Amino acid sequence: MNIFKTLNFQPTVNIKHRTLNCNMTFQEQIQQGIPSQLPQPKPYETNINHAPKRKEILGEEEKKLALKNALRYFEPQFHAELLPEFREELEKYGRIYMYRFRPDYEMKARPISEYPGKSEQAKAIMLMIQNNLDYAVAQHPHELITYGGNGAVFSNWAQYLLTMKYLSEMTDEQTLVMYSGHPMGLFPSHKDAPRVVVTNGMMIPNYSKPDDWEKFNALGVTQYGQMTAGSYMYIGPQGIVHGTTITVLNAFRKINKEPKGGLFVTSGLGGMSGAQPKAGNIAGCVTVCAEVNPKITKIRHDQKWVNEIHENLDELVERVRKAQENKETVSLAYLGNIVEVWEKFDKENIRIDIGSDQTSLHNPWAGGYYPAGQSFEESNKMMAEDPELFKEKVQETLRRHAEAINKHTAKGTYFFDYGNAFLLEASRAGADVMADNPTLGREFKFPSYVQDIMGPMCFDYGFGPFRWVCTSGKPEDLQKTDDIACAVLEEIQQNSPEEIQQQMKDNIQWIKGAQENNLVVGSQARILYADAEGRMKIAEAFNKAIRNGEVGPIVLGRDHHDVSGTDSPYRETSNIYDGSRFTADMAIHNVIGDSFRGATWVSIHNGGGVGWGEVINGGFGMLLDGSDDADRRLKSMLFWDVNNGISRRSWARNEGAVFAIKRAMEAEPKLKVTLPNFVDENLF
Ligand SMILES: NC(=O)c1ccc[n+]([C@@H]2O[C@H](COP(=O)([O-])OP(=O)(O)OC[C@H]3O[C@@H](n4cnc5c(N)ncnc54)[C@H](O)[C@@H]3O)[C@@H](O)[C@H]2O)c1
Repeated sequence: MNIFKTLNFQPTVNIKHRTLNCNMTFQEQIQQGIPSQLPQPKPYETNINHAPKRKEILGEEEKKLALKNALRYFEPQFHAELLPEFREELEKYGRIYMYRFRPDYEMKARPISEYPGKSEQAKAIMLMIQNNLDYAVAQHPHELITYGGNGAVFSNWAQYLLTMKYLSEMTDEQTLVMYSGHPMGLFPSHKDAPRVVVTNGMMIPNYSKPDDWEKFNALGVTQYGQMTAGSYMYIGPQGIVHGTTITVLNAFRKINKEPKGGLFVTSGLGGMSGAQPKAGNIAGCVTVCAEVNPKITKIRHDQKWVNEIHENLDELVERVRKAQENKETVSLAYLGNIVEVWEKFDKENIRIDIGSDQTSLHNPWAGGYYPAGQSFEESNKMMAEDPELFKEKVQETLRRHAEAINKHTAKGTYFFDYGNAFLLEASRAGADVMADNPTLGREFKFPSYVQDIMGPMCFDYGFGPFRWVCTSGKPEDLQKTDDIACAVLEEIQQNSPEEIQQQMKDNIQWIKGAQENNLVVGSQARILYADAEGRMKIAEAFNKAIRNGEVGPIVLGRDHHDVSGTDSPYRETSNIYDGSRFTADMAIHNVIGDSFRGATWVSIHNGGGVGWGEVINGGFGMLLDGSDDADRRLKSMLFWDVNNGISRRSWARNEGAVFAIKRAMEAEPKLKVTLPNFVDENLF
């Protein structure tokens, strides 16, 4: 039975189409929300990057439900016309995006003064939403995906239109409630409440398997918000370049070696992995990064994130020797398989100081990891035509990959897993990566980057990815805020304890070179790592500069990949060894606490980075407008937003965190945290 026939819609006569909203201003189009007359259908544009067709997962009755769910955004008189179109989208793309309702105006963050509305806070949120969907920023802008293949801001264009309308009419005594992309509506609240509360992908725990996402997302009732996609806080590639730079710098410190003349070998020049050579250059080492995809390699080279492309291994060896000898700062792409690099460098006795991998092993059978010994094209063909053989080849390569790494680590290379499931998939392939005496959380012979670097060196001390956006859209404002942030950090550094001197230094150096690194895409945004004191003092200084008319209003936020925002047992909380890394109390407390301490918007997500069901992560946004209220809120909220996570890390007996929380208690007598007692191992 064809379920669509059973819907039995009456064709509506005389439906008028609006050709374009060309008579309406940008503000009027925002205020209109879902247009009262149907816009013309839009052709599928082939010149932009689209989301892949999603897996067919709905049965016939479920497809009918998905269509009914989509049509409920529109008046019944339009259903007969929209139904076949939405049905076609569902069949063709596996989702209903409602392409016809994509607005005609340019999608980009505008200066805050250009947004219509009664609430400055709501206008700031509109700006951030548009930035997440900017063509220069978003991965699949027409499918409302910001990054990571499935990191959605909304599931369809009706949700976008309605949300923007609500934001344009709300006051500071209302809160907009977002259910996984769907704007449930405006509810009365008060001026200290968040203007928007976002949840993405919150599921009953037993319904959190990857196929549950496919199904319930196709039904239009949930979405995968990744981290900063669904929370309107993505700022383009800057965040990942900064985070990778901090990781590379600290990896060299871990082995007590200067980056100058040191060699860092890794792979992947894709979305996030492409930041590695750029970060290597900022850190000052020699980077070799293998990539099998020629197109991607060329993009990174054209963009100047990687300096040279090599296709011949002998020439690469010569070039690396020269670069090591001359202590050059240079990044070399090898167009080919990473396994060949590890094996060749072993044979030629090239000393690798730091090693990692950023192929997409969270997705090993569908293009995330390419087998050695065959061309890129052959692999793509095999993947589609003989997936079983492809899987065998991937696993065989992973075994070779690990074997070659082991030879290098035996000679002194420091290798770490970069949160891409390399160790997990290698272990599943039977590679030699398991620890000799595995303990809870230390199952593999190599650490993850959070276990060894980010966790103990940054998160435990409260250092994490603080960011801000200048809502005037003026580069001069960004420059001024860079200067303010730098001056604040330099002042704090003078009295900082030895334990955090290095982090302070790194971030002062970063902010000084930030303009030069030219990483602004979309909104005028900046990121740096700071602890609670740094974040609060920088924010306070910004608020003062706004009050004095030196800069326009500023949005504060952070990546979810932070001290307190994320519970993720194999990443952000992988250096928690008291058995609590599979709990998510910290992330939930964080978002609740932020929401009643003055955040302008808050979000909490299932999934993000490592996958649906694998992580709970949250974030916030806060508008600084120069007011006393903003001053009060920033102090209250930022203090909590960092110290919540430090207290949890301290309770897990992480020594850096015990140190940091004791310092926080000294600085703020109202903070009283339960401290752990350490047990003498010899007692057992
Ligand atoms: N950078 C970070 O801080 C960070 C943090 C956590 C997780 N990750 C993880 O890193 C992985 C990469 O992310 P991405 O956005 O760059 O993905 P991506 O798919 O865009 O890039 C991976 C690249 O690796 C290449 N590749 C695959 N197999 C290869 C091989 N054998 N040899 C050489 N190149 C090969 C692919 O062609 C692709 O371009 C993901 O699993 C992600 O979750 C990164």
